[in-house]
Amino acid sequence: MIETNTFENLLKDVKIATEKATSEFSNVANNEELESLRSKYLGKKGIVKEYYGIVSNCDKDQKSTFGNLVNELRQLVTRLINIHTESQKANRFTDIATTEWIDVTAPGHVPPTGHLHPITQIQYEIESIFRSMGFQVFDGPQVEDDYHNFEALNIPQDHPARDMQDTFWLTNGRLLRTHTSSVQIRAMQAQKPPLRGISPGRVFRYEATDASHENTFYQVEGLMVDKNISVAELIYVMKVLLKEIFQREVKVRLRPGYFPFVEPGFELDINCLICGGDGCPVCKYEGWVELLPCGAIHPNVLKYCDIDPTVYTGFAFGLGLNRLVMMRYGINDIRYFQSGNLQFLEQF
Ligand code: PHE
Repeated sequence: MIETNTFENLLKDVKIATEKATSEFSNVANNEELESLRSKYLGKKGIVKEYYGIVSNCDKDQKSTFGNLVNELRQLVTRLINIHTESQKANRFTDIATTEWIDVTAPGHVPPTGHLHPITQIQYEIESIFRSMGFQVFDGPQVEDDYHNFEALNIPQDHPARDMQDTFWLTNGRLLRTHTSSVQIRAMQAQKPPLRGISPGRVFRYEATDASHENTFYQVEGLMVDKNISVAELIYVMKVLLKEIFQREVKVRLRPGYFPFVEPGFELDINCLICGGDGCPVCKYEGWVELLPCGAIHPNVLKYCDIDPTVYTGFAFGLGLNRLVMMRYGINDIRYFQSGNLQFLEQF
């Protein structure tokens, strides 16, 4: 039992403490201040604990009146602490939004993507030029036999012309094709004339590499077989091809050239595109650049393919794709193509 006067004062004290709590919590600016208020009211030596200690000295009626007021104070303080904790969380998000500035109109990051190799690009271009002239595109094996790579092309065993193309021989007697003429033998054996087609692909030569020689490179060879095919058709088709590739009229000339599978055989030169024929370092001051070998298909080759050379004639040509890409872009070393060098490749 607490004396009535003292009890009345105690009740006043609790009410004042309750009002004070509301105003003190409304001024809280940061975590530390919140924590110190929490311990002031709810801590081990805090106000609420102290009042609960007094409750034990009260009689039954006093207990419920006083206890209710102290409970209210405890609940109020707990509620105020919760409110502050929640609003601090919300503030953290507002802080991010105001301090970390995002430009929503800025262009996004484009992930790097690859593209076709420059040789593949020009190969596809050439395929589409020939398709537009009614040529088929033939494919064939890179590992060949002697027959398709040499013999059927009028290069018998022990013929000195075999030395023109240094060959990778495999231990099983086969070889890596030295040109895609082998694919054309397969095509002529499978289809009878009239026939026109090209055979793009990878070829191999057993050569030491330098700026203008590679052991692995790419060709598009082609042929046309029909009645009355002459060198005139050859020149026409070559001129259409070159005009499409270089996007302008190109002057050509033929010089005699020897290849066992054509007769007559030629080297086709183009008027130098850099100097227009006046002479410059690219054409070695000749005005002409050697571009592709070609000729009329040798009668023996037609015979090997069961085509009667007294009825049918044809032309054939071989185009080096590496060479062509080098001329188009002014590339001075053939070894770049297989180097896997991204700084080189990303330019195309
Ligand atoms: N097959 C020859 C080579 O790769 C190129 C060629 C094709 C020559 C057609 C003449 C006619 O060297």
